[in-house]
Amino acid sequence: MRPHFVPRALSTALSASALVLAVGALNEVAAQDAPTFSADVAPILFENCVRCHQPDGIGPMSLLSYQEARRYASRIRQKVESGEMPPWHLDKTVGIQAYKNDISLSARQIQTIVRWADAGAPEGDPSVLPPAPDIPDGRDFVLTGELGPPDFVIQSTPYTVQANAQDQWWSPNVSFEGVIDQPRYVRATEMKGSYPNGAKVLHHGHVTLSMVDEQGRRSSRPLGRQGVGKGGDLFPENTGMLIQPEGQVNWNLHYFPIAEVVEDEQAIAGVWLYPEGYVPEYETIGEQRFTADMGGDMPWAGDIVLPPHSVKVQQGVHVMDRPVMVSSFRPHMHMRGREQSVEAIYPDGRREMLGKVDNYSHFWQISYAFEDQVAPLLPKGTVLLITTVWDNTAANPINPDPRQWVVFGQRGVDEMSHVWLGMTYLTDEQFERLSAERTRMAAAEDGG
Ligand code: HEC
Repeated sequence: MRPHFVPRALSTALSASALVLAVGALNEVAAQDAPTFSADVAPILFENCVRCHQPDGIGPMSLLSYQEARRYASRIRQKVESGEMPPWHLDKTVGIQAYKNDISLSARQIQTIVRWADAGAPEGDPSVLPPAPDIPDGRDFVLTGELGPPDFVIQSTPYTVQANAQDQWWSPNVSFEGVIDQPRYVRATEMKGSYPNGAKVLHHGHVTLSMVDEQGRRSSRPLGRQGVGKGGDLFPENTGMLIQPEGQVNWNLHYFPIAEVVEDEQAIAGVWLYPEGYVPEYETIGEQRFTADMGGDMPWAGDIVLPPHSVKVQQGVHVMDRPVMVSSFRPHMHMRGREQSVEAIYPDGRREMLGKVDNYSHFWQISYAFEDQVAPLLPKGTVLLITTVWDNTAANPINPDPRQWVVFGQRGVDEMSHVWLGMTYLTDEQFERLSAERTRMAAAEDGG
């Protein structure tokens, strides 16, 4: 801390050298008080950064050692202060704030990093350095750490991603023959590019199972949805997704070149099952897409039209025809996307913000997984209001060209406007029971 203001009487009373001395002493006190890598900064990096910033991770550099962190201290300071790192784009002033996968920093942690960088990134006493965290093998699924290896793994057919090109898509269909021999409940899914380069070129993708049940009814379920920064989908306790043995696997992969050829890339998806014969209480359908671009009488998303240098808002509504529990929220726009939110308007007229990102970045596809005890429970008749805000001005740092008209399309320079919500539809009886449990929990908390 530097003195901003020295009273005139005092400054004339002090000789110039005394002032310098005083300021020097203050700086020394500040440096002594400054956070150090070993005691203060490493615990934050280990907890919130090194899952990506390690030699095998998707981050551009490792932050495991003091030498590495010190080299990047000023960039770390800048990215952390601006809220760009770690990637977590939720507005912390509205909506639900308890998430299973929250990697964001508290205001205090941000201050610690800022003060550390400003003090010259001191190392401190290496003997207090916490042990480095276990870094998962890049070949493994992240969920393997928690659930063990998946029950089965499916794979796309090979595709060579060009070194320098625009977006590339690959949508092969693969047989599901013989993977499971009876209907089963899925507990978790995780999809990724192959190790090591596939993960870098796969911007996002979906793999769905188009299946036929014993009565001949057709439906489809996601066996994996991936995006940069998104982990696997572990369904809430006692919640599973039913899949049938008969069907076909449809891959839908969106690749982005990385200036080197990635030969014969094959995406994979791991699927964890509940034990044979086990029927979970709640059945989920996984992530379901809700658009803001309703289109009216226009073709899908025909109503996305961003004039040059404009900021545009778009809203879409969806009425729930059954009660539902929402377990996760994943916004999706492209390079002009700035904000997206999901609000619930309950049948009694009450309106509640569920989740909102106000610092969206197209480079990330993060799924915000609500903690079980706050996962929205919506009665039949609830209106979901999806709001998208695009910024096609020069103020948007990743806008490739604010002079362009922008319409709907697959490429990053085109736009989209939808959210993915993890949906577990409920019977009336299940809804009543879960609501009563919440009320009981709230009362217990108030009481004690
Ligand atoms: C989910 C993965 C992930 C996490 C967690 C993460 N980062 Fe990053 N980080 C990346 C990726 C990928 C990039 C490069 C693309 C970009 O800048 O968005 C990056 C870029 C950066 C950069 C810019 C590097 C440069 O040369 O410009 C800094 C600094 C940084 N991260 C620091 C951090 C810090 C500090 C944390 C934790 C507080 C953190 N990151 C957490 C993945 C991650």
